[in-house]
Amino acid sequence: MPSVYIKTYGCQMNERDSEAVAAQLVAKGYSLAPSEAVADVILLNTCSVRDFAEQKAVRKMENVAAETRRHRPEVVLGFMGCMAQSRGQELIDRLPDVDLVVGTQKFHHAAEYLDDILAGRRDKVVDVAEEEGSEAAIREHLLNGNGPKSVTAFVSIMQGCNQRCTFCIVPFTRGGERSRSIPDIVAECRQLVAQGVKEITLLGQIVTSYGKRGFGGMAVDGRAGSPLPAARSDANHGAHGVTRPTLQKSPFVQLLEAVHEIKGLERIRFTSPHPKGYGDDLIEAYVRLPKLVESAHLPVQSGSDRVLKLMHRGYTRTRCLGIIEKLRRAKSEIGISTDIIVGFPGETENDFADTVSLVREVEFDQAFIFKYSPRRDTPAAEMPGQVPQKTREERNQHLLQVINEVGKRKYGAFVGRRTQILVEGPSKKNPARMTGRTRCNKIVVFDGSERYRGQIMDVKIIRAGSFTLYGDLAIVNL
Ligand code: 5AD
Repeated sequence: MPSVYIKTYGCQMNERDSEAVAAQLVAKGYSLAPSEAVADVILLNTCSVRDFAEQKAVRKMENVAAETRRHRPEVVLGFMGCMAQSRGQELIDRLPDVDLVVGTQKFHHAAEYLDDILAGRRDKVVDVAEEEGSEAAIREHLLNGNGPKSVTAFVSIMQGCNQRCTFCIVPFTRGGERSRSIPDIVAECRQLVAQGVKEITLLGQIVTSYGKRGFGGMAVDGRAGSPLPAARSDANHGAHGVTRPTLQKSPFVQLLEAVHEIKGLERIRFTSPHPKGYGDDLIEAYVRLPKLVESAHLPVQSGSDRVLKLMHRGYTRTRCLGIIEKLRRAKSEIGISTDIIVGFPGETENDFADTVSLVREVEFDQAFIFKYSPRRDTPAAEMPGQVPQKTREERNQHLLQVINEVGKRKYGAFVGRRTQILVEGPSKKNPARMTGRTRCNKIVVFDGSERYRGQIMDVKIIRAGSFTLYGDLAIVNL
């Protein structure tokens, strides 16, 4: 059977999609090639969120095509994912060596299309159509493939986004919001836990909107066949007959509760959320559900209300600060990360200064900074006041310095403390050492052996590097 090599660009959702495709191919008898140089099939799973990511994948395919054409013309080449979705046939017109283009609702057909191409039944395949129910098709995992057991796993709970932020291409590449049912997700999580997984990250483009538009075409209101109980609007009857309304729970919080029930699961994370999704029900869930770790991603994008409005984010700086305050009141140790775009059209020096001051005020534990990149068909690409590349670069550098300075302080504060980690496996940089993750999402590198993999243990932090902690096994573990 042929071997396949998949290279992934972009976010964790893309990583997850690639894993599911690889698992489907392995189930059909394909093997996974250790490098593209020896693969019979080379697939690039692409990202479109910024132009740079698209350019990288196109350049990579140009190189791969030139190489294989010369020495191994029978190799099958394909694009999958977001850029495949938004460009479709255009990719083959530009790169005629490409045989396959698989959109974001068609990952589960990749194996079937490859079989057809390899058997000579079809020459080229481009499939970027919508497919009802495809949100539930990202379910296969590659656990324990050849190597040791996976401690962590990602589970896709929904696809798409309806938010329509003016900078964002995701609604075009991933389509509208579609959620899997709670029982379906829980069954997948249970299976993972039975295979030894200790930590599950629930994934989607906008997980806090999970279930808001029904499930696989069904409404959320508990009508016949709906997999969710009707959203709770009941009331508590206290002493003396006083009625106290209970907190309305969003479908996402109901999902967290259901996953939390799974015995043997130790930790739950989720990404990516929308700041306005941190309602009181979710904040309260951090207090109530011990497996939900003290970590929150709050992609603020900007600290300027004017820019937030132009971005169509649906919240203000004050609202974000209020959410962060509530999260910290609920869990003082919570690690808070963010995404920020610099150089959004119309962003003035004052607006940028507002972003810098927000970062200083909040003291994010980690922040991912993106230089604004105009995307096809998005409103922001046509807005007046496009910021020159040089200014975007300067603001990026400036903000990076601030983030590093804040990070140094936040990470430094851990030195000398004992903290709980889940050991994930050998460190990528130095396989002689092991890495684990704190509940608040900080990587800890320490001297230890494989036998600690999958264990929850205490380490003492002895040093802080750049967004990494270095630990020593605390006495209690010896
Ligand atoms: N330009 C720059 N950054 C972008 N992001 C999304 N769209 C763009 C764009 N057009 C960033 C946002 C988002 C992260 C995943 O990517 O910060 O949260």
